Amino acid sequence: MTMRPEGALAPLPARRVEMRRRAAAPAVDPAVAEFRPGAHEMPGFFVWTLGCQMNLSDSEEMAGQLLAVGCGRAPSMELADLIVINTCAVREHAEAKVIGRQGQLAELKRAKPGLRVVLTGCGVRESERTSLARRFPAVDMFLRPDEEPELALRLGLVSAQAPVGLQTAATAATTVVSGRPVSAADHLAPNRATALAEGRVARSSTISAWLPIVYGCDKTCTYCIVPFSRGPERSRPFDDIVAEARAIAAAGFAELTLLGQNVNSYGHDLLAKERFGHIYTERASGRKLDLRGRPDLAELLRSIDSIAGPEGRPAIPRLRFITSHPWDLSDRLIDAMAECPSVCEHLHLPIQSGDDVLLQRMGRQYTVDHYRERLARIREAVPGIAVSTDVIVGFCGETETQFDATLAVLEELRFDTVFAAAYSPRPGTPALRMADDVPAAVKRRRLNALLARQEAIGLERNREWLGRDVEVLVERITPRKRQAADEDAPPDDASLRVPSLYGAAGEGSVALAGRTRHNKLVHLSGDPVLVGRAVTVRIEFAGPFALRGRIAPGRAVPGRVAAPTS
Ligand code: SAM
Ligand code: SF4
Ligand code: F3S
Repeated sequence: MTMRPEGALAPLPARRVEMRRRAAAPAVDPAVAEFRPGAHEMPGFFVWTLGCQMNLSDSEEMAGQLLAVGCGRAPSMELADLIVINTCAVREHAEAKVIGRQGQLAELKRAKPGLRVVLTGCGVRESERTSLARRFPAVDMFLRPDEEPELALRLGLVSAQAPVGLQTAATAATTVVSGRPVSAADHLAPNRATALAEGRVARSSTISAWLPIVYGCDKTCTYCIVPFSRGPERSRPFDDIVAEARAIAAAGFAELTLLGQNVNSYGHDLLAKERFGHIYTERASGRKLDLRGRPDLAELLRSIDSIAGPEGRPAIPRLRFITSHPWDLSDRLIDAMAECPSVCEHLHLPIQSGDDVLLQRMGRQYTVDHYRERLARIREAVPGIAVSTDVIVGFCGETETQFDATLAVLEELRFDTVFAAAYSPRPGTPALRMADDVPAAVKRRRLNALLARQEAIGLERNREWLGRDVEVLVERITPRKRQAADEDAPPDDASLRVPSLYGAAGEGSVALAGRTRHNKLVHLSGDPVLVGRAVTVRIEFAGPFALRGRIAPGRAVPGRVAAPTS
């Protein structure tokens, strides 16, 4: 028997597919034995995730739900009975990718009439619900990001033996932002706590873990759709986050990334407590949030860093967080980054533009000078820190001089990596009231010019690593072809290489890739068994987007990444 809430789809037909299945959970209570799903086959699912780390983390929760009700993973869309598409809407192109797949999905449905397609993520917004079926004709069910906890229930897959949290999934609600109905993220924190307690988060890696700390976004960047797709900010309770980090540490993960659209504002919406009395309000500029007595990101970093592992070192050797808003980057946070040995020497701090008028028009609420000051402070506190940023070119009214100011700022601030995109008008955002008056060809030209300039800067920054020994956490085996593409530099340029110190890689070695604490992508050769381990690598080649090196003999730390010592 299955519970079917109102508006749910008819249950997916039990079908046989060629793939490994998890057996349906056995009934634990004989009183409900007649409800045992028994021998019937559950659908095989495939989750296609687009967009940012928050979507990757949400997909882990959805996969966890489906596995918990007895579904199995299908190896591809073609072999699945259920396709879940977790969409991104940050630019038109991201949505177009999914719209462009409607024909293929319709084809798959014709060949397999029982196939169901669910569309979720930021592409599903309450205010545009009526147009969804027209834009995505191959989709059977639409779920806003905050409705994802109801996925299995709405599909009619939840039996009486399913984990209790799935049977009683909190119902999503809407609230109003700028006069439009948007997701309310209030129930997401308790839902995650239940999902974790019931073992329903299917992490996609055994090396690096995602940990959402704050849902939604309270900022008002005029170009951005996120506040409309994900709703207002809601922080998870401090103790829930630390408990999840403890479990991640106990499971032996080498790396943990705290997630939020603006992790720097974590905690401002939580209740004040005496034990957080030492936390005070402090902003160099902008909105004064009353943080007194409320936990903040700095406090979280310190607490997670203090979870002790072997020899009293941090149990999770690498701690990261993303994304930071320059306005909310407090001195407390900078001090915590400098003082916590596990916090990696990398910060992603989106600048968006190098011109104050544009920044104001974008609703970013800081000036270039404020950004400069924050960057100088973090570079002073954490010497050698790698900094990446986001830039939008061709925003409404951007003149050639304003674009040049952005180029000049990149030249001056010397980021390690820049993620740049041409402005893409998004439905319902405040920027739609401004003229999108930079022609597409000009946007493209500016984007290419910026990327070319940054490629040279990135190469220079990467050259600084030549000849140095660095700790690399090996993440995966890569096709050799991929290595060459990432490095993408003239092979005969001697200034990009240093002589090899450690000799040829041994027999049986494969192409591997991993990251340094500074978030540099490093290619190397080695034994496949090194995936998930830390190795010391001497950097022998620097390209604009990646480094390459050789493993120092005897410098692989068996089993896990080395914990920092200071
Ligand atoms: N919360 C982060 C922040 O404070 O910048 C960024 C999140 S946003 C989902 C990721 C990046 O997408 C932004 O930093 C911005 O550069 C880019 N972006 C957002 N909306 C965009 C739009 N309408 N057109 C082009 N790029 C956009
Ligand atoms: Fe979008 Fe701005 Fe929020 Fe980032 S901080 S998610 S750019 S509204
Ligand atoms: Fe895209 Fe939504 Fe992330 S719009 S970038 S998936 S928050």
